[in-house]
Amino acid sequence: MCGIVGYVGEKNSPEVLIDGLKKLEYRGYDSAGIAFFEENEINIIKSRGKLQNLINKINENKKIHSTCGIGHTRWATHGEPSHINSHPHGSKTLAIVHNGIIENYLPLKEELLSKGYNFLSQTDSEVLALLLDYYYEKDPIFAVNKMVEKIKGSYALGIIFRDYPEKIFAVKRDSPLIIGKGKGENFIASDIPAILKYTNKYIILEEGEIAEITKECIRIYNRDNQLIEKEILTATWDENAAEKNGFPHFMLKEIYEEGEILRKTISPYYDGNINFKFQNITDENINSIKKIHIIGCGTAMHAGLIGKNIIEKLCKIPVEVHIASEFRYSETVIDKQDLILAISQSGETADTIAALKKAGDYGCRTIAVVNVLGSSITRISDDVIYTFAGPEISVASTKAYLVQIAIMYLLALKISEIKNLISENEIAENISYMLSLEKKINQILNNSDKIKHFAYDFHGYENLFYIGRGLDYSIAAEASLKLKEISYIHSETYAAGELKHGAISLITKDFPVIALATDENLFDKMLSNIKEIKSRGGKVLLITTENIAKEKLSDRKEDIADYIFQIPETKHLFIPFVAIIPLQLFAYYMAVLRGCDVDKPRNLAKSVTVE
Ligand code: G6P
Repeated sequence: MCGIVGYVGEKNSPEVLIDGLKKLEYRGYDSAGIAFFEENEINIIKSRGKLQNLINKINENKKIHSTCGIGHTRWATHGEPSHINSHPHGSKTLAIVHNGIIENYLPLKEELLSKGYNFLSQTDSEVLALLLDYYYEKDPIFAVNKMVEKIKGSYALGIIFRDYPEKIFAVKRDSPLIIGKGKGENFIASDIPAILKYTNKYIILEEGEIAEITKECIRIYNRDNQLIEKEILTATWDENAAEKNGFPHFMLKEIYEEGEILRKTISPYYDGNINFKFQNITDENINSIKKIHIIGCGTAMHAGLIGKNIIEKLCKIPVEVHIASEFRYSETVIDKQDLILAISQSGETADTIAALKKAGDYGCRTIAVVNVLGSSITRISDDVIYTFAGPEISVASTKAYLVQIAIMYLLALKISEIKNLISENEIAENISYMLSLEKKINQILNNSDKIKHFAYDFHGYENLFYIGRGLDYSIAAEASLKLKEISYIHSETYAAGELKHGAISLITKDFPVIALATDENLFDKMLSNIKEIKSRGGKVLLITTENIAKEKLSDRKEDIADYIFQIPETKHLFIPFVAIIPLQLFAYYMAVLRGCDVDKPRNLAKSVTVE
């Protein structure tokens, strides 16, 4: 979704703004723009399409020197991606950049039209600019407060006023915004990577707070207009983590980081005991859980599917996985003693936030599994378990998924310990086994040429099925999403046994299948399903384990599947950690071969902050 940056300091602001916007490109956008002060006047430059178009436009100008400005990447919601709809919006008096959606913009627009205002764009955001202009009588904080009283919806706003050429103002509700604190320079941004090059110190702006920022000073006002002190946080992510470091794409780099970050996520939570430091949830609460509801969107929800398998197996507690956007309006039966687990990489996904708030209304305990420190979801849940994936820049999530599932395992082990279903020794064994998976992950990564070769043979197809049973079925859901997101190939996941009840009618020589069969106990069943596909002309790529290949396929491999990828031998309970790697690589190479924009797929946004 839209990205916001702002800079005030000694440096040339357009350069810093562009730099920040580049780091926010991953959020998804279709136009971009900046507003900056030059000789005490506000200048706006904007452009449709990629940031390079904006950079070219900036370079057409005489040498700009400006030390204060705001910038924006827009992901169109109201009005097509165009020059006129791009942000910043405003006038000679002020300029704004907005992330979010103003729900009551139509009546406000009517009101402003009747007061003689003219609108240039079709956006909801322009209403904010003109509303501010209407209330502005040389007092920015007053005008922002008045505007906030009138508007409904979500917003993170960066604002500059012509009368204050060395200040940026910011306000937020339900959309993310941080304030970066540098030395002799300060920033606003939608996300930490945008400022990491300059500072790792930041403040999180909370709902309804207004910030007034100069190069030396950050003032924050609460809803009652009182100046307040805010905690300054330190991001542990280093700047390099947000760079490609020689990889052609962030996605590939992030896949290659998976072994290491698996260790980095598990290690801090295990010191002989699984040491989640819950502030609000007691062992007693956990002992009385009747059911667990996992909520999330996209990949995070798929991590929840793995969580369901593992928690039900280890803890004997029923688990239901909910798509957050469905859960928020559903009539799901929830008991006060149920536990809600919200999974989110960004911690800013609007649907997950709303679902979590709804869960809170039932009086249930909530735990969030989140990657971004201090993000919105961490502030509305009873307790938080952080994943330590570092910044994930590629829109398609890979490493965040892996560590989300790692937390599912740790949580399952912890709950079963509290319920006396597992011994300390067994926990220690399981943790050390999980840590040993780093090697197997790297082994697969070292064998990536094989996957590249499969992708070469498959990238011309327009349809694909992923099939599996049990855990493999849940892994397949994520594999299929990866492929859709970045290669634009239509793919679906099917429970292998369900295919014959309808979807098998689609199988032809042009409709291949990726079959995941890593469970020895279910392998024969999978084999029957694969035969059903092969006998209808469907090409099959089989993902299985070395052991299964040796014991069950030995000398008839070619008859069974057209292609086989063997995963290093892994205990089935832990198979998701290794089985997902070749499938992520497969999606990646397919997208590369099809010439797709891997890190920034069309129409997608990394952090979906609107409903
Ligand atoms: C968007 C992204 C997906 C992501 C989902 C949930 O749709 O494109 O990659 O899985 O949001 O994001 P979250 O930050 O809540 O994990």
